[in-house]
This record gives sequence, C-alpha cells and structure tokens, in this order.
Amino acid sequence: MTEVASAQENPLLEGLTMRRPPDPCALTIFGASGDLTQRKIMPALYSLAVRGLLPQRFGIVGVSRTAMTAEEFRERMKEAIVEHARDDFREDVWEQLAEGMCYVAANFGEEGGEEELIDCLNGLDERRGTAGNRVYYLAVPPGAFDDIVKAMGKHRTTAGWTRLIVEKPFGHDLQSARELNELVRSYFDEDEIFRIDHYLGKETVQNMLVLRFANGIFEPIWNRVFIDHVQITVAESLGIEGRAGFYEEAGAIRDVVQNHVLQLVALTAMEPPIDFEAESVRNEKVKVLRAVHTPGPKHVVRGQYGPGFIEGEEVPGYREEEEVAPDSQTETYVAAKLFVDNWRWADTPFYIRTGKRLPKRETTIAIQFQRAPHPPFQIDQEGGLRPNILLVHIQPDEGVSLAVGAKVPGQGLSIRTVHMDFLYGGAFRVGLPEAYERLILDCLLGDATLFTRADEVEEQWAIVDAMVAPWRRDRPHFPNYAAGTWGPAAADELLHRDGRSWRRH
Ligand code: BG6
Repeated sequence: MTEVASAQENPLLEGLTMRRPPDPCALTIFGASGDLTQRKIMPALYSLAVRGLLPQRFGIVGVSRTAMTAEEFRERMKEAIVEHARDDFREDVWEQLAEGMCYVAANFGEEGGEEELIDCLNGLDERRGTAGNRVYYLAVPPGAFDDIVKAMGKHRTTAGWTRLIVEKPFGHDLQSARELNELVRSYFDEDEIFRIDHYLGKETVQNMLVLRFANGIFEPIWNRVFIDHVQITVAESLGIEGRAGFYEEAGAIRDVVQNHVLQLVALTAMEPPIDFEAESVRNEKVKVLRAVHTPGPKHVVRGQYGPGFIEGEEVPGYREEEEVAPDSQTETYVAAKLFVDNWRWADTPFYIRTGKRLPKRETTIAIQFQRAPHPPFQIDQEGGLRPNILLVHIQPDEGVSLAVGAKVPGQGLSIRTVHMDFLYGGAFRVGLPEAYERLILDCLLGDATLFTRADEVEEQWAIVDAMVAPWRRDRPHFPNYAAGTWGPAAADELLHRDGRSWRRH
C-alpha cells in the first residue's frame, strides 16, 4: 500500500479529513467464505486501498471451514471486488492487496485448528512487517464465537496490539449478551472490542450528530416543548433473501430494532457529548437507552407479510419463503411507541417502525414540531398549514429536508407545505463511502466511537426483552399485512389513538 496521499495526489480523497495512517497490522477474517466477506468486507478493504488509507504494511488472512488454496481464495475475493466494490477494478491496487493475502481452512472447535493461523500470522509479520498487530474479524454465526474468542485470546502476541471486531447479532437476549460480554472480556479489554452496528458507519447517521451539534439553531428547540413527536422508519422492500435459518430465530425485533433502530433513537435523543471521543459519545447514548420506558403490549405492534406485490412483481408471503415453517410466528414487522423518560423528552413519543416487504426501501428520522400556536390566517386546517417536519433521509436520497408552510402565489392567501432540501448528491462532489469502509478504518485506527459498548448492547437487549415478553403468551394472527403495503392496520391505529398518523411517503 502507499502512504496516505493528499487530495491533490488522489482526487478520491477530496472532502476526506485526513487522519494519521493506521499502524501496520494483519486482519484475520473468520467466515471468509461467507456472504458478508464477499459483499461488504472485501469491497470495503479494496475501496480503502484505492484511497491509500490502509497501512503500507498490511496483510489479510481468510479463515473458514471451506477447503481451498490461497490462490482460490484470492480469486474469489477478486470476483467479490469486481462485483460489489463501489470503485472500478484496478489491477495495480488489487495486486498490492493480494500479495499480502493468505488463507487458512480451519475449524476452531477442534484442537489445534488455530496452529496454522498462528503460523500464517507470524509469517506475515516477517514477510510484510505487520509487527505483531492483529485484528480478528468475527464474521461468523454466533455459535462459532466461543471457540474463536478462546483460541485467539489464548494466543495473544506480546509484540503488538490486538483488536476484535464482532458482527451482529451480539446475543439473542439480555442474558446471552451478558454471557458473550463476559466471554470476550475474559480475553480482551473493552477498548479492544469493536461491536459492529453498520448503521453507525453510515454517513447520514453520523450527520445526525453534526446537524444537531454543529448548528446553533436546532439544539434550543430539540426538546419536548417544541417537538410534538419523532417517527423513525426503517423500511425495506426486500424479503428475507434466503436467510430463513437466521431470520426465523431473530425476527424483525432482533434483526433491526435491537440494533439499528435503537441506535437511531439514541442519536436523536442524546444530550450533547462534551467531545467526540468514544467514551463521551457512548456515555450519552447509554443514558438515553437507560431512560427508555418499557412499552406496554398496547404500544407494540408486530406483523408478518403475506403474499403481495412489490413494484408490480408478485412475491410470496413469509410463510411460503424457502425453509420458513408454514405456521411460523416470526414477525417481519414491528412498530412501537417509546418514551425517553428524562427532562428533555418526557411525554414526547418516539414512534418506531421497521419491516420487510414494505413498498420501498426508506430509512428516515422525522422530527415533527408543534403546530404554530396561533396562525393569524384563515386557513383550511386539513390541506393548509401543516406542522414543520425536519426529515433526515438516512437512505436512499441521503439528505435533510425541512417542511415549512409557504404562501401559494396569487390572490388571496392559501398556504401549502414546501420543502427546503439539502441533498448529499447535489452538495458534495464525492460519493458516499460504504459504512464498512468507515468502520474497518476506525478499528484499524483504534477509534471505537462508532462501535457499540458492552453496557450499550445490554441496555438495547433489556428494551427488546421487555417488548417481546408478552409475545410468549399469545399467538398472533399472521400474516396480517400484504407484501407491498405499509404494515398491519394495528400500526396505523397505534398513532390514530394519539390523534397522529405515520408520515405519508
Ligand atoms: C442488517 C439486517 O443488519 O441490516 C438485514 O440483518 C437488513 O436484515 C439490513 O436488510 C439493512 O441494512 P441496510 O444498510 O440495507 O439498511
């Protein structure tokens, strides 16, 4: 790899705040033959390499149970990059990356499975100068964590630093998350553990903090006095994409609410941190999660999609998906009304919803302000003056838009809602980096700000456990929404009862 270049030397760096280059190190990916490695991790590494952001002395070790040679592994990784990377394929960049790549077929449950890996890492230290610095990336199902953590914990080098990246799901409830935390912390210190929630790597999610804390106009009104309520939507038109084995156990609440949605709640509701250091930011997020009031069963709605149409294409219902039980009780949709019980937010609802097979992919945070107290106009309340909404588009069409009332040109005084828009695509020349690029680079730099801390993940599970507890007692009437619609009727009622409705799309 080349040393970090300047924006003049490398136009792809335009707009990037340059940080120090990471230390030399070797990155070991457990689960190297899996989907995540091919679709996200390897393309992200390639894009970092294209920008000269990887250390000059760097090595990658792929580990999985699949038997293949190092050459076959490199070939697979090359194909993955060609297919999934956001940058065009460049032979020179690939050659440099591939030179430091090796592969180990190992099963860590078996005695001695790790010997070959240790040899390989020692070899990289000699050949590539990786200086005993290690990153272990666990891109494997949770069942495999135990053996790998123990094996790598026992073989720590004294020469350099060690870091552990752990993919979600981090446990399946509070108890299992605690056990997992105990396990990893018996071998690694908390500042060596990087629990991934890829939502935190998204530019627009980070922009939520910038919007709030780098602008003087929002914070004074960012509270229960001026905000009527908040709506957080994580909608997907995709189904479960052949992941029935995982999804049947997880459902929407463990797959998306426990991590991504609760992160968005925390970032929206948190107090300003004193600085942008990992501990300060995470302290504030944990305080929000602690303040989340356990929603009663009437405030939580779950759904499962039946057959329907997505963009004119007929799609099967969840129970008809491959390897899903024909009477599955797994939810593919969750909506809930949460309260953050603190001085800033008391009595201000945070409505959240997420679902598969909704009409479109859309992640937004909508901050709805109180209506103007006394409009001095004759207006038609229905179609005329609506409350101001600050809409943060996490994806797609990344940006921020503010809905305001404006006078319709002409005689008389009619008012219509218009939007003041900031669109990433229009304002900046550079493409948005993939979340995984940011997160992998941060880990190489030892910056844990955008990773979930042990107590944070436990607070998230405590909320989810409380939400699912009543579910054990009754059998839902599933399916209760058709694919291609905005979820079950009960989700609309949840807001109608409060005289509100979900934002129209
Ligand atoms: C993952 C979930 O964490 O997030 C998936 O396991 C979901 O089910 C995905 O599709 C959504 O991520 P994104 O970045 O496409 O919004």
